[in-house]
Amino acid sequence: MKNIALFASGNGTNVQQITEYFMDKKEVNVSCVIVNRKDIYVIERAKNLGLDCFYFNRKDFYQTDNVVNLLKERKIDYIILAGFLWLVPQNILADYDHRIINIHPALLPKYGGKGMYGHHVHQAVIEAKEKESGITIHYVNEKYDSGDIIFQAKCSITEEDNADTLAAKIHLLEKEYFPKVIEKVINQTI
Ligand code: GAR
Repeated sequence: MKNIALFASGNGTNVQQITEYFMDKKEVNVSCVIVNRKDIYVIERAKNLGLDCFYFNRKDFYQTDNVVNLLKERKIDYIILAGFLWLVPQNILADYDHRIINIHPALLPKYGGKGMYGHHVHQAVIEAKEKESGITIHYVNEKYDSGDIIFQAKCSITEEDNADTLAAKIHLLEKEYFPKVIEKVINQTI
């Protein structure tokens, strides 16, 4: 059995989907949710799902070992960034080489980097009149959105699409693929 921690900064649909997917599976245990803001809906979701949820501020993340210590205490094997918007600090990267996985709502290497998250990504894709977008699941390193790519899936964009309808398409892809890809990485079948 492998323990995973979900890092989140927002609404938490991915946290919910991942947790529900692994609820009745023996190989993976969703151990906890780690958040970096106190005013986000994912905290409510974690409560409703019966998950332990821990808040850490910027100082905790970047100037202390508080997060790493919690991960060790809870014997976390993999970290999943499920809409987490800060760079992962060096002390966590050092302990979790190729064991931190992020999802990005576009086809990297396009539309990645600092400031490219959530709605900003979809807006940029629509403004560039792209014919397709998608999701990228990748390992995390010290830079935004630039670790080794594990998996991508695409969706088409029509003339009627706007950033909101594109976001809905992307969320469907995330629901369909993110939990399964996490499972494959953990079981080392990808
Ligand atoms: C997701 O679409 C995820 O791909 C994106 O944030 C959203 C979080 O939604 N991540 C990034 O933009 C990372 N750069 P959620 O909180 O409802 O899961």
